[in-house]
Amino acid sequence: TLRVLTGITTTGTPHLGNYVGAIRPAIRASRAAGTDSFYFLADYHALIKTDDPQRIQRSTLEIAATWLAGGLDAERVTFYRQSDIPEIPELTWFLTCVTGKGILNRAHAYKAAMDRNAAAGAEPDNDVTAGLFMYPVLMGADILMFNAHKVPVGRDQVQHIEMARDMAQRFNHAYGEHFVLPEAAVEEDVALLPGLDGRKMSKSYDNTIPLFAPREQMRKLIAGIVTDSRGPGEPKDTEGSALFQIYQAFAEPAETADFRRAFEAGISWADAKQALFERIDREVGPMRATYQRYIDDPASVERVLLAGAQKARRTASPFIATLRHAVGLRPLG
Ligand code: TYM
Repeated sequence: TLRVLTGITTTGTPHLGNYVGAIRPAIRASRAAGTDSFYFLADYHALIKTDDPQRIQRSTLEIAATWLAGGLDAERVTFYRQSDIPEIPELTWFLTCVTGKGILNRAHAYKAAMDRNAAAGAEPDNDVTAGLFMYPVLMGADILMFNAHKVPVGRDQVQHIEMARDMAQRFNHAYGEHFVLPEAAVEEDVALLPGLDGRKMSKSYDNTIPLFAPREQMRKLIAGIVTDSRGPGEPKDTEGSALFQIYQAFAEPAETADFRRAFEAGISWADAKQALFERIDREVGPMRATYQRYIDDPASVERVLLAGAQKARRTASPFIATLRHAVGLRPLG
């Protein structure tokens, strides 16, 4: 069986980028015969990004509700919260001890933080925590704990999965073949969904469209997507258009082809935005009631997560025992 695994950091409200980049492809993958899927809420990762406990709680509920509303079948998939699996921080330590510091120096998120500080004239490591530096190792442990083959993610996470592969190789080399070498699975059309300002849609750029924004707010947000100043009747470029790219992430190929023709024929930006709103609403609308039901009943979400944790630990707990033997913390054989 093919093992598929992915996680989302619990720091914010799920947005269109999380949905098309990770949640939707992961749910589709989980329905294929012969796949065993592990999907989780990366709440230890959240501590790297925020010290606001309420924000983490709220985000955990919203992200869990999004997976469930998106059609995740918690009976079929192993759906859990990272912090319910104590084997993960233990594996993080094992991997820490086989990971070259130089590799972590090259991680994008860490480098970006250092560069930002230096550009602002501060010490490069000014506000950089050891948590941010170690982020890829924790993520490696998430993936290797369940020996995932495929990791569906947006393009921004590919480097982390390559690092996990490297950790697996180094561990296997030292201690024998314990880990599968994981691979990123990136859907090229949606690998990097742009946000309102045309940059990557991201909580850190404050340019997101929440997946379950109330309809009127969703319409207003979409109206605010950057465009050029071409008027009605003037042909529009699809290349580099955030509006077009978001449409494409939701539409079937035939619809996208129609939308492209409308651009060439000079559709007004107002009409293009209305078309985008309607296309997103067609997909998201039917999920709204389920989402709200879970948001209003956090106890039901908690039950799902705890059952998922039990299931996950049935794999994690014997595996960590094997690894403890392998590294010599417990007698061999
Ligand atoms: P996070 O929480 O930033 O994002 C969750 C998922 O959403 C994808 N994504 C996007 N995809 C396309 N376009 C966008 N604009 C966009 N923005 C976000 C991300 O690529 C990701 O797939 N470190 C991870 C969480 C994590 C993880 C893991 C993932 C922790 N452990 C193990 C996979 C396997 C993160 O912060 O993702």
